[in-house]
Amino acid sequence: MPELICVGCGPGDPDLLTVKAVKAIQNADIIMCPTSKEGKPSLALSVISSIIDKAKNQKIVNLVFPMTKDKDILETTWEKNSRILAENALSGKKVVYLTVGDPYLYSTWIYLHRELKTKFPEIKITVIPGIVSMFTFASKVGISIAEGAEKVTIIPSCYDLSQVKELAKNSDTMVFLKDGRYFDQVIKLLKEAGFSDESIFAIGQDLDTEHEIVRKLTLGEVTKDTMTTKYFSIMVVKRV
Ligand SMILES: C[S@@+](CC[C@H](N)C(=O)[O-])C[C@H]1O[C@@H](n2cnc3c(N)ncnc32)[C@H](O)[C@@H]1O
Repeated sequence: MPELICVGCGPGDPDLLTVKAVKAIQNADIIMCPTSKEGKPSLALSVISSIIDKAKNQKIVNLVFPMTKDKDILETTWEKNSRILAENALSGKKVVYLTVGDPYLYSTWIYLHRELKTKFPEIKITVIPGIVSMFTFASKVGISIAEGAEKVTIIPSCYDLSQVKELAKNSDTMVFLKDGRYFDQVIKLLKEAGFSDESIFAIGQDLDTEHEIVRKLTLGEVTKDTMTTKYFSIMVVKRV
């Protein structure tokens, strides 16, 4: 039976790859990975590059997923890339597809999987979970994402932020992902939702890379300079 394995690679540190992920990657004939632009290195590939055995001559294929909200472009991209994955799996090759973090949190894999399930049901699909970026971040700053009866909200910050205040009123921890350039827009809303100046505030950028930034302070101490500037950023705000 043709088979395809999606591997969650964690947020960046190769030592955080699971044993199962390492086995699947080393056993593959073809490694496919997402990138946002033709010629741009894949972050997921950079996570696993140190465990690739060059002597095995594994084929590496970048699949381009443009950073756009245009529905037509997105649908065409998912259709095209899932077909490339399927054709390679159907040719009898062992194919792995890499994702950053875990495959089922805001990942390109979610859309590919949907396409593959309906259009290529003959392919056996296995998904290997990976460490989610916000949990790596929590470990780095030493904060709990939730404890006891606490409620958590996860916000993808590059979309509509109009509901943040209402959601924050009913949450103990707010996790913001997807693009640090939007994070500063919500600080005022969190305060209006009852997050005190003493609330824990933690922000990180480019975790597990040489450019990593990690900051932990209180909400009251946040200034414009505290904020991050890149897509690969995480912000956690927690009531105390
Ligand atoms: C498309 S989502 C993928 C999430 C991923 N599947 C996960 O489980 O963490 C990309 C977002 O995850 C977060 N992220 C993933 N890896 C990161 C890293 N190394 N440093 C900082 N943020 C990261 C950022 O919020 C980024 O914008």
